[in-house]
Amino acid sequence: MTKGKFITLEGMDGAGKSTHVAWIPAFLQARGVKVCLTREPGGTPVGERLRELMLDKAQKLHAETEALLMFAARREHLDKVILPALDAGSWVVCDRFTDATFAYQSGGSGLPWERIAALEAWVQGDLQPDLTLYFDVPSEVGKARTQAVREPDRFELEGRAFFDRVREGYLRRAHDDMRRMRIIDGTAALAEVKQSVENIILSNCF
Ligand code: TMP
Repeated sequence: MTKGKFITLEGMDGAGKSTHVAWIPAFLQARGVKVCLTREPGGTPVGERLRELMLDKAQKLHAETEALLMFAARREHLDKVILPALDAGSWVVCDRFTDATFAYQSGGSGLPWERIAALEAWVQGDLQPDLTLYFDVPSEVGKARTQAVREPDRFELEGRAFFDRVREGYLRRAHDDMRRMRIIDGTAALAEVKQSVENIILSNCF
């Protein structure tokens, strides 16, 4: 059996990621692909418990604790969900992965980039997503969208300057690996964004 493909979705809070993660599995299934839809932080019982802790507004976490917990959850996720699914020939669609740790814990919170890279190498070895869809929006757009629809979690409480740095972190990752990570203009009309996503998936994965 051939190995499945690993697709991740990234973007700051309010970039539109969740809207698109909702239709991509059916789009792939219609083309005969078996899909495992999952998310980070989370995706396993331990990961979901760590997620609750990390998004809890009552917690004050050091940025290094946050990065280590993200990678602890990721290690479990790779072992229990992502690698077994890929090995069984399923495609994995994951709402956030390691690019988010570079963007949030290094870009946003200021941890050294190389420290995240060391954790990435430790936990993932050579494994990288086959394709990453990065929904790019300015921080004011992300903020306005999240404020309009929900109570903010611990990350969403951060200010504009934090999200400007998150965006810079994502763009740095995208420029470092332009073949894998595709930048999508998340401010475009929904139908246009959807069309771009479909075109990118069709031309890169089939
Ligand atoms: P979500 O709301 O898209 O599910 O993501 C939860 C929050 O977790 C989001 O604000 C970004 C944050 N996050 C990090 O800070 N680092 C990470 O490595 C991941 C995966 C998420």
